[in-house]
Amino acid sequence: MLRSAQRTALLAASRSGALRTLAENTALLRPVVDRFVAGTTVDEVVAVARDLTADRCVTVDHLGEDTTDRARAAANVDAYRTLLRRLGDDGLAPRVEVSVKLSALGQALPGVDAEKIALDHARQVCEAAHAVGTTVTVDMEDHTTTDSTLGIVRDLRVDHPWVGAVVQAGLRRTEGDCRDLAGPGSRVRLCKGAYDEPASVAFRHRHEVDLSYVRCLRILMDGDGLPMVATHDPVLIDIARHLGRDRPHEIQMLHGVRPREQQALAAAGETVRVYLPYGTEWYGYFVRRLAERPANLAFFARSLLTR
Ligand code: FDA
Repeated sequence: MLRSAQRTALLAASRSGALRTLAENTALLRPVVDRFVAGTTVDEVVAVARDLTADRCVTVDHLGEDTTDRARAAANVDAYRTLLRRLGDDGLAPRVEVSVKLSALGQALPGVDAEKIALDHARQVCEAAHAVGTTVTVDMEDHTTTDSTLGIVRDLRVDHPWVGAVVQAGLRRTEGDCRDLAGPGSRVRLCKGAYDEPASVAFRHRHEVDLSYVRCLRILMDGDGLPMVATHDPVLIDIARHLGRDRPHEIQMLHGVRPREQQALAAAGETVRVYLPYGTEWYGYFVRRLAERPANLAFFARSLLTR
């Protein structure tokens, strides 16, 4: 993991609108971004998803977080509708589902009805997923949105009990959330958490986050839902495989990260799901991936220097 100050600086940069506009319009960066992002169009992401389904499952994310424009949030719903129709037409559902960020669907809009707009939009995405026989997982963003996001997931589950929730082991509250979410049929993705959070709500040391991850994993594996173990950490994957050896679970990893390990786990009989983002608004997602690993930053710098 990057030293904390560097990570904090990168994660702050991931929220900068000016840097985002500059980066997304710089064609030079595209080849580097391509390692993590499967193109900008439905055709491109569907082609990558189809290849992956040879041995893995997929969750596709249409990039577009932190939307502060209502028309843009509605356009993101349309993008999901188009994507889901295509997944249905191409026979890729249910091995391919979708992930959504509520801040792309209206949660970050100014005004008091942002949450209601996000819920309405998320419901439309769920209906489109249901129509083609696949599922939706609602990504988790920074801690200021956790209560709102879990509330929206609860509302969506009234009609669509298969909607997946995400919890972040880095947050102190998450063991309790796991207990609440571990009921029958509940799909729950456990990740470490990609945002820079204050010590008042989050563990700041890597070791504390790992210990929390294992405690949360035990709760989910002892529960009645479907634990979705989202990590590339080999120790945590071994623990998850041990705890989950006699019960259904998924291992989830990001597109472009440890692909050989993904294939090896699938060959060993694990259900592996790849998180596959696409779209033009890749900046925030990409910078969070840089913040996770110094080698990515070096890879990024080398690619720019050798062009
Ligand atoms: P850690 O960062 O400790 O990495 C362990 C090892 O994995 C590293 O040593 C390296 O080998 C490899 N690795 C990890 N990240 C890498 C990278 N970017 N590039 C190359 N190698 C890397 N977060 C969130 O806040 N909300 C969410 O909804 C989600 N959703 C989500 C879905 C899925 C399927 C995954 C895999 C992850 C997320 N995340 C997320 C991100 C998550 O919180 C976390 O930031 C990353 O997974 C990195 O943490 P690891 O658990 O992989 O461990």
